Amino acid sequence: MIILDNVSKSYSSGQPALNNISLHIKQGEFVFIVGNSGSGKSTLIKLLLKELEPTEGTITVNGIELRRLKRKNIPKYRRKIGVVFQDFRLLKDRNVYENIAFAQRIIQTPTREIKKQVPRMLSLVGLAEKYKSNPKQLSGGEQQRVALARALVNKPELLLADEPTGNLDPKNSWEIMKLLEQINKQGTTVLVVTHNREIVDAMQKRVVTMQKGIIVSDEEKGGYIYED
Ligand SMILES: Nc1ncnc2c1ncn2[C@@H]1O[C@H](COP(=O)(O)OP(=O)(O)OP(=O)(O)O)[C@@H](O)[C@H]1O
Ligand SMILES: [Mg+2]
Repeated sequence: MIILDNVSKSYSSGQPALNNISLHIKQGEFVFIVGNSGSGKSTLIKLLLKELEPTEGTITVNGIELRRLKRKNIPKYRRKIGVVFQDFRLLKDRNVYENIAFAQRIIQTPTREIKKQVPRMLSLVGLAEKYKSNPKQLSGGEQQRVALARALVNKPELLLADEPTGNLDPKNSWEIMKLLEQINKQGTTVLVVTHNREIVDAMQKRVVTMQKGIIVSDEEKGGYIYED
């Protein structure tokens, strides 16, 4: 499903953010990406979304070589991917309901279906009562859960979650991770960037550890080996 072949990404100057990375992720896998701040995790997510272009190497997602993907086809490509960004990226001028409904409108979901799905997703992330709130009236953790509801509402083939529990307390973090595990069991490939050692250790999933732009370990049913 995801193939990175000798991928490097350099920003304007200094050390490359990703340095000759190769990684294969199969359809239906659940993978944690861990590693210290600045090791290249978010860069990897942005490359998979074609928000960034690699300096070198090849990225293939679902049989599509991203370099060959034409600009006009990028929105269609991204519609199959659910994303939770580290900085949420909610629409600030729309309420919680509309933020989630928006994702469905883009793919021409009938209004009747939207009226069913949005409340369902909001209950799933424990925010049923906040549907009228504006994102700026929500706590960081609540915004994060809205972002997750939005990412999941279209039942994506692939979910990319960059620190989906970064702003949550332990109880909420566990609930969100269990939700991701459930989504994965229904067939969605899940990639989760996290610093949450306790959860990574407990869940026993594949763990890819990055350090300074390099993959330093890739373990089936691994733990959080990075030493801060
Ligand atoms: N837009 C940018 N311009 C220049 N350098 C950047 C840019 N984005 C990231 N970098 C650099 O690339 C490296 C990797 O950044 P990245 O955001 O991928 O790290 P990360 O692993 O997600 O870190 P964190 O855990 O703090 O989110 C860092 O050294 C960072 O300073
Ligand atoms: Mg990051």
